[in-house]
Amino acid sequence: MKIVFIPQYEMTPDRKLAIADLLSICFEGFPPHRHYYRQLAHFYWVLEPKNGSTSTTQEISPEPEPLPQILGCVSGILRNIRINSIVIPTLGILDVCVHPTIRNQKWASKLLQTVEDFARVHAIPLLVLFADNSSLYQNNGFEPRKALVRWQMIDEIRQISGSVDERRMDDCFMLKMLEPCMKFTEDPLAVDLLGWIF
Ligand SMILES: CC(C)(COP(=O)(O)OP(=O)(O)OC[C@H]1O[C@@H](n2cnc3c(N)ncnc32)[C@H](O)[C@@H]1OP(=O)(O)O)[C@@H](O)C(=O)NCCC(=O)NCCS
Repeated sequence: MKIVFIPQYEMTPDRKLAIADLLSICFEGFPPHRHYYRQLAHFYWVLEPKNGSTSTTQEISPEPEPLPQILGCVSGILRNIRINSIVIPTLGILDVCVHPTIRNQKWASKLLQTVEDFARVHAIPLLVLFADNSSLYQNNGFEPRKALVRWQMIDEIRQISGSVDERRMDDCFMLKMLEPCMKFTEDPLAVDLLGWIF
């Protein structure tokens, strides 16, 4: 198995389809045939079998090359957000999923570690995500925090007029600070996502 990094602008139609298939298997009600929920992410980390799409049968068969098989995926949004009065470049993490056949083998943890390595290399100081179940993330060093969160609401095709929503998210807002000197002691945190929610 290998983890492949794909920026959105290099996403191929085959990979979009394979990610969309995985997302609809892993998340009930995920919009069909989409490799994103509401908006395009900037980055994807996908788990592919090592010999994924390198079929050697291509030379002897007129059949099209099979879709690359994607067995795990995490996407990322690069954005400034504000916490209290500080604006911080942040990697928002979303759509974390692993195919049911290979769960509980630490593949999601390896994907999260790869995302974190990327953020460290690119000096992005903060990882943020929203999760109903925190166990995977707490195992990987994320911290659940009480937060009052503001974001811009969008529906499928349009921004909702006048709709900056603001809600307490005490059970699902999680962060991981990669700069040791950065500390937020306030409780709850005032978090402005400066855009749509990821
Ligand atoms: C969550 C998920 C990505 C975990 O993948 P995985 O490769 O099995 O994860 P790992 O082997 O690295 O870690 C397993 C841990 O994830 C936890 N976990 C299982 N389902 C979870 C979920 N929906 N959300 C958070 N953590 C979860 C397990 O309890 C386990 O923790 P433990 O080791 O303390 O028992 C996978 O179960 C999945 O795709 N679920 C469906 C999609 C989903 O709910 N994604 C999370 C959205 S926030």
